Amino acid sequence: MQTIVTDSPEEAARFINKGGIVAFPTETVYGLGAGICHPEAVERLFAAKGRPGDNPLIVHVAKPGDIHDVASNIGSEAEKLVRRFFPGPLTIVLQRKSAVPDAVTAGLETVGVRCPSNPDAQKFLLHCTCPVAAPSANLSGKPSSTSWKAVLEDLDGKIDCILKGNPSDIGLESTIVDCSGEMPVLLREGAVTLEQLQEVVPSIRTTGALLQHETPRSPGLKYPHYAPRARVVTCPAGKTIRTPPEPRAAYIGLSHPVVEGLALVRRCGSLDEYGRSLFDFFRLCDSRNIDIIYCELPPAEGIGRAIRDRLQRAAGQGH
Ligand code: TXA
Ligand code: MG
Repeated sequence: MQTIVTDSPEEAARFINKGGIVAFPTETVYGLGAGICHPEAVERLFAAKGRPGDNPLIVHVAKPGDIHDVASNIGSEAEKLVRRFFPGPLTIVLQRKSAVPDAVTAGLETVGVRCPSNPDAQKFLLHCTCPVAAPSANLSGKPSSTSWKAVLEDLDGKIDCILKGNPSDIGLESTIVDCSGEMPVLLREGAVTLEQLQEVVPSIRTTGALLQHETPRSPGLKYPHYAPRARVVTCPAGKTIRTPPEPRAAYIGLSHPVVEGLALVRRCGSLDEYGRSLFDFFRLCDSRNIDIIYCELPPAEGIGRAIRDRLQRAAGQGH
């Protein structure tokens, strides 16, 4: 199949409306979309990514009010979150309406809904005749794509179209909050930070605070994620990396690396820049045949929590 690259949101939406699959930019990472009224396109999307069928997709809507097309029983906490953070880098898990097929939710009775703020994403979604289910636009298990070139690298020839936009502003996937149960639970950290969520919904709990018998409610989080081919090693800020670097070692972080002889170094001027650069750096390291990537652990505050989460997953440390 030939993959068309376009900068026209309208042209990209036409592919969705014909039952095709299309990658598009958002402020978090690039998404790979299929219209929820085209379940066969949703199936193709799973195949193109090599994604396990039990991992549900996030549904993207053009306007905050459109969440009512796909979700029901929206409680007061979810409403507050919508009012404060939509459009933006937040996904809310709610009870699904029957308009959302099983192929999207992997059979769950809930659906994750997001309304992106990126202007190209909004134009694209406005031209789509139904909401768009979209995981990140990368091969399953690889780092999420934060540029259209990364999408092309992973999915050229496997998808109908790429809507070409700017590199993603945030570079990390959306924050996910589950509002389908009695109390809101933070399932995945992102650019909407725990501190910001607590201002709106003080009762929110993190998955770490869940009791043993309470199953983690995000099926995708059990899969390895965000991992480059190179080995990822996290290091606390300012700590000397004592092990002599393997022949091809790289470093990303906020402070100066404290080893010599690194093949590749990305020093970030801020936490935001660290988040924006991380997945792009992982991909660069793979293209340069790096064996090991030292990643400085940023402070666990603001978006630093999301960066630490992705680093720990990439390092295979889980939680
Ligand atoms: O920023 C983002 O969220 C990007 C852009 C494209 O919107 N999307 C993204 O999708 O990161 P994906 O599929 O790579 O990650 C979605 C995560 C998965 O871990 C999945 O299991 C979880 O969201 N998820 C989706 N629907 C869910 C549901 N109903 N209940 C619990 N978790 C859900
Ligand atoms: Mg993903």
